[in-house]
Amino acid sequence: MKEIFEAIEKSAIEIADAIDRDSFSYSETHNAHGDHQLELDLECDKIIEDNFRSVSNLRGISSEEKDGFLELGEGEYLISYDPLDGSSLVDVNLSVGSIFGIYKNEFLGKNLIASAYVVYGPRVELVIAVDEVKMYRLHKEEKKFHFVKNLKLQEKGRITATGATQNGWSEKHRNFVRDLFDGGYRLRYSGGMVPDLHQILLKEGGIFSYPSTTDRQKAKLRLLFEVFPFAHIFEKAGGRAVTEELSRVLEVVPENLHDTSPCFFGSKSEIEVVEKYYGR
Ligand code: AHG
Repeated sequence: MKEIFEAIEKSAIEIADAIDRDSFSYSETHNAHGDHQLELDLECDKIIEDNFRSVSNLRGISSEEKDGFLELGEGEYLISYDPLDGSSLVDVNLSVGSIFGIYKNEFLGKNLIASAYVVYGPRVELVIAVDEVKMYRLHKEEKKFHFVKNLKLQEKGRITATGATQNGWSEKHRNFVRDLFDGGYRLRYSGGMVPDLHQILLKEGGIFSYPSTTDRQKAKLRLLFEVFPFAHIFEKAGGRAVTEELSRVLEVVPENLHDTSPCFFGSKSEIEVVEKYYGR
């Protein structure tokens, strides 16, 4: 897997340069989710694809920006990735990210053997989860990532991030959010999943939720490209990731590459609050 992580590091360095350099105009294309793609989305996708093409032992890759699976060889590993998550935040200069899931055999949560994400913010940081969750920071002149620390969640945090249109939230979700605020939690939501979850991991606790809404029963976030990798990272950091049915996110079986699911990622105490409201 060393080669895969090297390809991710190289991609991160090239994407950070592209974000600094490129214009943020829209392309003429839409992705499988109907999102209008930025030129930058397409460039980041290409950077990652090119870097993975030179990795041996890959069977193929699937990108959030592409409809299908791209076969690369006879290798052992499959990779799903979101090249530029939160791309609607690029023009307002908020942090964005790339997300990667590395699987054996099939794109199933239980087959994830490693996951990673990169945050492009004031600093570029890379987090990789295999058995432990390790954070690295880019030294821009050296063009190298240096290990910073392991990330581990405490039992309980103090922040909450919750997405989707509030007028479409269920009563359960409203009550869940109210319970957190009544309990003294502070809202921390940028609209970028990568920096929002990175903040929870670095503050060592809290909860991120993206619920179903009246107009979007399956919510917005994509299982393969966003939800599985973060579920894996949160579990390895000592937290949990569950669906609205309270099953483990990593046990959800997607029917299609681009399936979405409501999801909650948090430390143990906050997931118990989810259980209190969604269990009813
Ligand atoms: P996009 O890449 O289209 O900007 O979407 C970002 C994702 C995810 O990163 C974030 O948590 C979520 O969409 C925000 O969605 P809402 O604005 O609906 O809360």
